[in-house]
Amino acid sequence: MIVLEHFSLKNYNTFSIDATARYFAEVTSIEELKYILSKKNYPRKIIIGGGSNMLLSDRIDALFVHVDLKGKRILSESDETVQVQVMAGENWHELVMWTLDNNFGGLENMSLIPGNTGTAPIQNIGAYGVELKDCFVSCDAVRIVDQELVTLTKEECKFGYRDSFFKNEGKDKFVITSVTFSFTKKNHQINSGYGAIEEQLQKESISIPTIKDISNAVIAIRQSKLPDPKVLGNSGSFFKNPIVSKEIFEAFISKNAEAPFYKITDELYKIPAGWLIEQCGFKGKRFGDAGVHKNQALVLVNYDKATGKEILDLAAKIIEVVKTKFGIEISPEVNLIK
Ligand code: EPU
Repeated sequence: MIVLEHFSLKNYNTFSIDATARYFAEVTSIEELKYILSKKNYPRKIIIGGGSNMLLSDRIDALFVHVDLKGKRILSESDETVQVQVMAGENWHELVMWTLDNNFGGLENMSLIPGNTGTAPIQNIGAYGVELKDCFVSCDAVRIVDQELVTLTKEECKFGYRDSFFKNEGKDKFVITSVTFSFTKKNHQINSGYGAIEEQLQKESISIPTIKDISNAVIAIRQSKLPDPKVLGNSGSFFKNPIVSKEIFEAFISKNAEAPFYKITDELYKIPAGWLIEQCGFKGKRFGDAGVHKNQALVLVNYDKATGKEILDLAAKIIEVVKTKFGIEISPEVNLIK
């Protein structure tokens, strides 16, 4: 395995930030991963998968370990379901397309999400009413401290909205090497209840959608709203949708009756950050090479040569203006790496 020095990460993060890693290594086997994690001469190690949920600062004094483990295998199957183990370096959307080619149901609502399979559990990726946890069985991970390969169950992963064990107690302690999913082979559960999907299916006059129809609808919606990272650098939603107490929600909605919201429980409400940001006038605005996407205010974009700091300064400005106007604090969803 070669350890490269002063390595540009521009092609390894979907924001296309031209950050420099002090060291960089690519691992293609679990043995190589264990070996590099055991090396004491690189005190700071940062794991990188598809690089789709990180904002890098400009020079990072660390060893970046790019996890490039490939492969999928069927572990078991019955007439109804199939369990598939997928290696961490498999591209997420290609995996979704592979499940559809095999008529395996479960991931279709999460079509076209950038990134790799191994990083999907960290923030429990989700879209259009479905989250990764809904078909997650377990994952294998190398524990950094002793390089043991361990299996974590769904319960141990403590999934929440854009959240898991790996963002809390388990932060920086494990490298996920594979994810095991359970998919349906028949009687698929069709999740078409999300407003935008219903509209898209109606547009195409589809009344009884298949999992492939759902995937096509999601792809059409995402392509119309979200920028393609290959064309315009971005990391999807930059902010999380804030979850507020009933008290804060009631004060907010009494002044903003037209605002969209989702009731989570009797006590908790989720307010779309994209709406809040749009109301503050940021949608489509550009500041140098950093900007707010014209079709989805939750997404910050790099027009060409924005630095991590420029994106971060824009994010800080947005957080401040939203807080002043609405009294609600929004926070980044992406990992900020300094
Ligand atoms: N909205 C606006 N202005 C905007 C954006 C949204 O007014 O600029 C309003 C919409 O009109 C709608 C509401 O906000 O009433 C919600 O918008 P949308 O359905 O587009 O979803 P979202 O809350 O903005 C979340 C996820 C997305 C995911 C979609 C669909 C988060 C942080 N983001 O966005 O995830 O694709 O729902 O399920 O939860 C991602 O994580 O990278 C991502 C794209």
